Amino acid sequence: MSHQIINGNCLTVLQSKSINQKIDLTFLDPPFNQQKEYAYHHDSMDKIKYWEMMTDVCKFIYDTTNNGGSMYFMQREKNTEFVLTALRKTGWTFQNLIIWKKKTSAVPINGKYGKHYQIIIYATKGEKAKTFHRLRIEPPLPPNYKYQRENGVFVTDVWDDIRELTSGYFAGNEAIRTESGERFHKQQSPLALLIRIILTSTKVGDVVLDPFAGTGTTLCVAHQLQRNSVGIEIDPSNASLIQNRLSEIRDADIIQKYFKDYSCTENISKIWGDEFEKKISIKPVGLFANPIEN
Ligand SMILES: C[S@@+](CC[C@H](N)C(=O)[O-])C[C@H]1O[C@@H](n2cnc3c(N)ncnc32)[C@H](O)[C@@H]1O
Repeated sequence: MSHQIINGNCLTVLQSKSINQKIDLTFLDPPFNQQKEYAYHHDSMDKIKYWEMMTDVCKFIYDTTNNGGSMYFMQREKNTEFVLTALRKTGWTFQNLIIWKKKTSAVPINGKYGKHYQIIIYATKGEKAKTFHRLRIEPPLPPNYKYQRENGVFVTDVWDDIRELTSGYFAGNEAIRTESGERFHKQQSPLALLIRIILTSTKVGDVVLDPFAGTGTTLCVAHQLQRNSVGIEIDPSNASLIQNRLSEIRDADIIQKYFKDYSCTENISKIWGDEFEKKISIKPVGLFANPIEN
């Protein structure tokens, strides 16, 4: 497996065509332009400029993606129309609007309904995905169901079984913390989210890209599922965190505990990686850090 961490601005990196491999899947989790604190990014850009930038990012990813490759673009639900426009302008084919209901409390808003989900738009290069594994899961039985289902249910476009890492108790040991116990990165994605996306849309040996890599959750999961990965991250301290995260996989990052969630899925051992049974410990990976000017 090869994993490449590039410390730089994804727009510059993608534009320079310095990624010398074609991409099969991209997970796009950018800052949402909602005044969050980022050391190397100004999160209150002019709205038009922000969406021009995201449109360019989508275009460069499209150019470097294999035919039939996939992209998952995460955003706030109020920006749905902008995501759809950016994807349409850059050639992507819309497939699903996934509702990620994050098992956290709703955010109350005056004068309208409280916010209880985030969107993930799933799109492909070309009409049809070259890889789409129909995963099966076993959600708890709804009240009044008398019998256990025999073989689980297919994953749909509503994902309500994956918890977001919040600052409190539920961040558990998965959240990476500083010595003083603070979360290292407030937007760290849960492993379970990337497991679902990578299992659905790639095969063993494919290449996964994360242009806004943050703490490197995508690379960490890709490695354990025997997919190759490329992560781009503008903040050097995040980039070196990713390097450490992959060099020595923490117990909290080991994903084998999620295998059982998909055990009803046909051919799951093959989708997950044939070596799964034999994989007793995760080996450190060789990394190529390639600093590029911001
Ligand atoms: C929402 S976070 C991604 C979190 C990530 N999914 C994880 O699991 O940790 C967005 C990340 O993009 C980085 N970033 C912001 N602007 C960038 C740019 N132009 N190029 C590359 N990375 C950028 C930020 O430093 C931040 O770490």
